Amino acid sequence: MLVDSAMKDRLFVFDTTLRDGEQSPGASMTKDEKLRIARQLEKLGVDVIEAGFAVASPGDADAIHAIAGAIKESTVCSLARANERDIHAAGGAIKPAKSGRIHTFIATSPIHMEKKLRMQPDQVVEAAVKAVKLALEYTDDVEFSAEDAVRSEMDFLVRIFDEVIKAGAKTINVPDTVGYSIPALWGERMKQLIERVPHSDKVIWSTHCHNDLGMAVANSLAAVMNGARQVECTINGLGERAGNASLEEIVMAVRTRKDVFPCDTRIDATQIVPASKLVSTITGYPVQPNKAIVGANAFAHESGIHQDGVLKHRETYEIMRAEDVGWNANRLTLGKLSGRNAFKTKLGELGILIDSEEALNAAFARFKELADKKREIFDEDLQALVSSESYAAEHERYKLVSLRVCSETGEIPNAQLVFTDNGAERRAEGSGSGPVDATFKALESVVASEADLLLYSVNNITSGTDAQGEVTVRLAKEGRVVNGQGADTDIVVASAKAYLHALNKLDSKMERAHPQV
Ligand code: KIV
Ligand code: ZN
Repeated sequence: MLVDSAMKDRLFVFDTTLRDGEQSPGASMTKDEKLRIARQLEKLGVDVIEAGFAVASPGDADAIHAIAGAIKESTVCSLARANERDIHAAGGAIKPAKSGRIHTFIATSPIHMEKKLRMQPDQVVEAAVKAVKLALEYTDDVEFSAEDAVRSEMDFLVRIFDEVIKAGAKTINVPDTVGYSIPALWGERMKQLIERVPHSDKVIWSTHCHNDLGMAVANSLAAVMNGARQVECTINGLGERAGNASLEEIVMAVRTRKDVFPCDTRIDATQIVPASKLVSTITGYPVQPNKAIVGANAFAHESGIHQDGVLKHRETYEIMRAEDVGWNANRLTLGKLSGRNAFKTKLGELGILIDSEEALNAAFARFKELADKKREIFDEDLQALVSSESYAAEHERYKLVSLRVCSETGEIPNAQLVFTDNGAERRAEGSGSGPVDATFKALESVVASEADLLLYSVNNITSGTDAQGEVTVRLAKEGRVVNGQGADTDIVVASAKAYLHALNKLDSKMERAHPQV
């Protein structure tokens, strides 16, 4: 990415859904899922896709490599700590990219340097400079982040940023790693850094805010008002703990209040809702109904006065139009009579590429089953269907064959299941306080995973009583947390699928390093 004065009014969007977002408990994604999200991010028009943390695991490196090979319109980036091993892994992973970036970071706050890194400030500066120089051997697009900048001393930040700019970093990122700042202070910090760091006009200043106090978006916007020209954010605000700044809120704030922001992004806002739904489907993190921009109620007017106003003149209560951010794009896509070719073409339009004939046939068979139960099939139904198919192809140990549930007023609900365990048929039966409880108890009576159930949630994928219910089950075992998803027009069947999906994930034992540990 070039840095010149003609770009001053462009606000670069750096999406880290696939890296920081993936650090949310249980949100880890397969390569195929990451590729699907990356393609949607490219369609959305994000400038930089942080595709992962290459050194974390061979699977992470492989996914970044695949994304780097597939994406042409966005820069593809890998995170790397400021050490040789990380930088080599990142450099190798982004190699196929048309435009690739290495994002290297080291902590700069007294507490992190002393307690976590056990390094002296001079050593930290030295490691940062070395890392930037090594990264430049792989790409001329190197970003440096001062982790925990929010609790770092200003003079030290000025010193380290000066040194990494001299070493060749093109983007300087200032993270509020722990979500501690407030807008006035964060804006002031950005302003002072830009004023005090020599040659600050030669780099893009970036902000990366976490949402622990609910101020990630407000802090990011304050930084933008004070000179930041890159925002690091995630779809739906996914991310560590309370999450990162939400991409859709930042983009729409800057666009809706163009009267106050001196810059704009190149985001195609009509792709926001599809991106939000895709990320939610794949990660199993539902979007709260009152979430700005992408929540189901974000454009719903309930009170009579508001409805009356909107009917008379839309702008009385609406500052944005639902269709401008991709609502109502809920298109009827296919039906019962659609053929395999139409199905394949539709998947292509949705950015879903199924490379093997076998996987396509399995997905088509599932589509036909669904079309028998549900008259109208929407884009979201296909996304959910393909998510479960692609996961199944990669890791399926347990698979649901059939489920019978008896639930009657005054009686104890009972569930009987048939499922396969590595191809061998198993039967399970259990009772519980409701049909879902009975189903899970039946499965546990045979599988005996002893995992803790942390979360159970059901969401409708589209509207109407014939909609598919999408269930998320979060299980924890021996320090690992996984999310399982299942979709079906019958929510008890969806629940059984979600439980088995989570068990499959626990079974697949994906071990990964965490960048901040
Ligand atoms: O929150 C943080 O500080 C990070 C860095 C790696 C940029 O995610
Ligand atoms: Zn972060």
